[in-house]
Amino acid sequence: MNAVDNNESAQFREGARQPVTSVRAWESLDSRAHPTVGCVVTLESGHQGRALVPTGASVGQFEVADLRDGGARYDGLGVRDAVVRIETTVAETLAGVPAGEVDDHLDGGPSNVTLAVSQASARAAAAASGQPLWRYLNGSGEVSLPCPMVNIFSGGRHAEGGVRVQDFLAIPLAAGSFAEAIEVVWRVRRRAAQLTEERYGTLMSRLVADEGGLAVLAGDDAEPLELLARAIEDVDENVGIAIDVAATQIERPEEFLSTLERWCSRYPIVSVEDPLDDDDWDGWTDVTRRIGHLQLVGDDLFATSAARVDKAAGLGVANTVLVKPNQVGSLRRAADAVAAARHHGYATVVSARSGDTEDDMIADLAVGWNAGQIKVGSIMRSERLAKYNRLLEIEAVDGVRYGGWPR
Ligand code: PGA
Ligand code: ZN
Repeated sequence: MNAVDNNESAQFREGARQPVTSVRAWESLDSRAHPTVGCVVTLESGHQGRALVPTGASVGQFEVADLRDGGARYDGLGVRDAVVRIETTVAETLAGVPAGEVDDHLDGGPSNVTLAVSQASARAAAAASGQPLWRYLNGSGEVSLPCPMVNIFSGGRHAEGGVRVQDFLAIPLAAGSFAEAIEVVWRVRRRAAQLTEERYGTLMSRLVADEGGLAVLAGDDAEPLELLARAIEDVDENVGIAIDVAATQIERPEEFLSTLERWCSRYPIVSVEDPLDDDDWDGWTDVTRRIGHLQLVGDDLFATSAARVDKAAGLGVANTVLVKPNQVGSLRRAADAVAAARHHGYATVVSARSGDTEDDMIADLAVGWNAGQIKVGSIMRSERLAKYNRLLEIEAVDGVRYGGWPR
């Protein structure tokens, strides 16, 4: 280690050692206009960190639940109880705790309580260290900019439509930089919008789903896939297709499997997420045998739990872990899932939620954890662009190198 590295890790420790002096929270709104928790943590040095947490729509049974107020306000989705919990119990527990040890004291609470505090504390510690968040999280390990999986068409619970599959995404397979990756998928999305307009008219091509994707309301599951494949053919053949079935939201996912296999042989599909229920281990073993030559991503299957990653690896199920910090309620536990994935040779994709905010933290998580891939929705709507813009900044200003499509 050279003198600069020594100096940097001393700074790194300095921020993590700063004690927490105050924890404040408030009720905010996410991109679906549902209440969500905002939090600011202040350290003895005066440095502050702020966070707004996201919420999913396809919430798996193994996720740590959010605390919601119930009752009449905001259709029961209010988070005033979570705010009170943070400003009383959690604030009392954390008073004087070093910022770097906050996550050790957060076990067991609702996700929107603990994650808000975990994220705000990490930001405060990074600020006190004088480091960008990605570097604070990484220490002196390897880093790279992630390959983006970008939503182009949405169905399922993100678009209220007849299409059952939740996401049809584009993955740039040959881009030389993150900026180039974004430019390629921008062209795919624009071409897909033109094709949608030709097929369904202007109204449909202007509809925007929860993650900024095009919302095709047609009944046929294959229609968005057909349009996306044509857009890719027209724009750049070095783009692959990813599908998130979000099978926990589908009535009989097993029956859908043969359709999925047919699609995989007909279209340039390189990645499939959650083709089956999150507790169907036999089904997952079978599907891994059938399409495990592709990237096979578990989202609800893993629920960002290191223990579930260990179990899947023991059974040889799936090969890639979707990492959503709010499924487990703290950055430390999400980092544990990343470490478990790496240990077993599984790839990782850091992911936003469909109800997200302008908080761009997961961009820094993807870089700092050297995750390899990121999934934050389409290149439309600012809660999505906040993450892409942060990655463009890290590439241009901090000079982190782009890792490319990792398979
Ligand atoms: P969710 O969907 O945030 O609505 O759960 C995102 C995903 O499944 O990847
Ligand atoms: Zn998913």
